[in-house]
Parts: sequence; C-alpha cells; structure tokens
Amino acid sequence: MTQPKLTIDNLRVSVEGKEILKGLSLEIKGGEVHAIMGPNGTGKSTLASALMGHPKYTVESGSITLNGEDVLEMKTDERARKGLFLAMQYPSEISGVTNSDFLRSAVNARRGEGNEISLIKFVREMEQKMKVLEMNEAFAGRYVNEGFSGGEKKRNEILQMMMVKPSIAILDEIDSGLDIDALKIVAKGVNEMKSPDMGVLVITHYQRLLNYIKPDFVHVMMQGKIVRSGGPELAEKLEAEGYDWIKEELGIVDETVGQEA
Ligand SMILES: Nc1ncnc2c1ncn2[C@@H]1O[C@H](COP(=O)(O)OP(=O)(O)O)[C@@H](O)[C@H]1O
Ligand SMILES: [Mg+2]
Repeated sequence: MTQPKLTIDNLRVSVEGKEILKGLSLEIKGGEVHAIMGPNGTGKSTLASALMGHPKYTVESGSITLNGEDVLEMKTDERARKGLFLAMQYPSEISGVTNSDFLRSAVNARRGEGNEISLIKFVREMEQKMKVLEMNEAFAGRYVNEGFSGGEKKRNEILQMMMVKPSIAILDEIDSGLDIDALKIVAKGVNEMKSPDMGVLVITHYQRLLNYIKPDFVHVMMQGKIVRSGGPELAEKLEAEGYDWIKEELGIVDETVGQEA
C-alpha cells in the first residue's frame, strides 16, 4: 500500500447559496495527525461534509485529491471505498440494521468485491476492537446507534474507523459529550491505528482532546479558512490564552462565517 495523501487546494464551498469555506488549503499524508481547531460556526464541519461529498454542500472552486485522484468527481460511497472516512459530530441512528451487519457491509465495501472478509475473521476482529474500546458485547447486536448515549455513539464511530481501516480519517468533534474516561478510550482507539497507512484529521473546539491524540500539525480555522498553522505548541497556546490573540493579530472582529460584511 502506498502512503496516502489528501490534498485540498483553495477550496470554496457554499451552502444554500451562502459561501462558507473561503479558500481552504491543507495537505494530509499517511502517518500524520492534523488538528483543525476553531470556535463554533467557523466552518469546520462544513469542511468535513464537503470532503465526504454531502449533497447540501456545493464546491464552487478549488480541488480535493486523494493520491492524485479527483475526489470531487466521486460519489460519497466511492470516496469511502477509496479510503476517506468521517466520524460525525452527530452520528445518525439506523433502525432495523444491527451494528455488526452495518460494520460488515462497510468493511466489505472498502475491501471490494471478491475480497470480502470471512464471517469468522470479521467477528473475531470486531470483538477484539470492541474490547479495546471497552464496549459491551451486546452492542454488536443492537441497531446502529439506536438508544446509544452520546459517548457510546462516539465510541461506535471509532469502532467503525478501526474496522474499515480508512486511509484518511476525519474525526469531527469526537470529544464532544465525552467524559475524561471515554475520551481516553476513544484516543486509545485512534492511537492504536496510527501508522503510515492512515492520515488523521481531528476537528475540535478544545485542546483537551489533543492531550490524548497528539497532533503533528495544528491549524486554526476562522471565517471559513485556515488562518494559522503550527505544531502542537499552537494548541497549548490556545488552551492557555484562547482565540482572542489570533483575532487581534489578524484584525478579525467576528470569527464566524457569514457575519462579516
Ligand atoms: N447544512 C447547513 N445548512 C445551512 N447552513 C449551514 C449548514 N452547514 C453549515 N451552515 C452554515 O455554516 C456555518 C458554519 O457551520 P459549521 O461548518 O457547522 O461550523 P463549525 O463546525 O465550525 O461549528 C454555520 O454558521 C451555518 O451558517
Ligand atoms: Mg462543527
């Protein structure tokens, strides 16, 4: 397997006619952990949705490539097959489909026709990953996310990631609604997967998560673009001093998207 590379170049994205992403560029390679931090309403989830090809989000200009292939030409399922994975900020419930059936379809879709995983191997691997994530065995037979607590849903997203083995994993606010113990478990799952075969984009509001998932690169998003990039020390500075100093330096009054004149 070649080391994956996701390249986002000067991306502009609108929702319902309103421009949200305003020229965002970012490159993520296998083995790297990037963190995008930023206050609410700055366009972080919009980036995640645009990467996966959510139909509500229109790419106006710019490009996204994965290993040199044009992602914007691909439908969502093809993006997933090629190795893009999104752990969502608000995971959906899928009534009538068990977690294990859902996982097996996702794994097999990623592996491709003729290369399906055997049931025994699948179950063994699922049980092993569920142990890592300290999930109760009963979760395998329950409908996807139905009646799961916020923390359980987030763990389930990480279970999907661990089973599907994406080449680029995007985790959108995986820390929201998690207590410290759950946060550590989720981080353990992510850290266990760290390898040159997978690049990670962690989207978060808070530095706290980055104590457990160590980023190599930290980017700050405001007004729909990356306004500052650095190493882990940037996240620490944000933890200590908040976002205001960046706004002052850049002369930004309102960091959210769409409010600026
Ligand atoms: N599905 C949507 N429908 C309408 N507006 C949206 C939608 N998604 C995002 N937006 C707009 O984009 C702005 C940025 O939202 P979002 O990307 O969710 O920011 P963040 O994840 O940084 O909090 C929001 O304030 C909202 O105005
Ligand atoms: Mg968001």
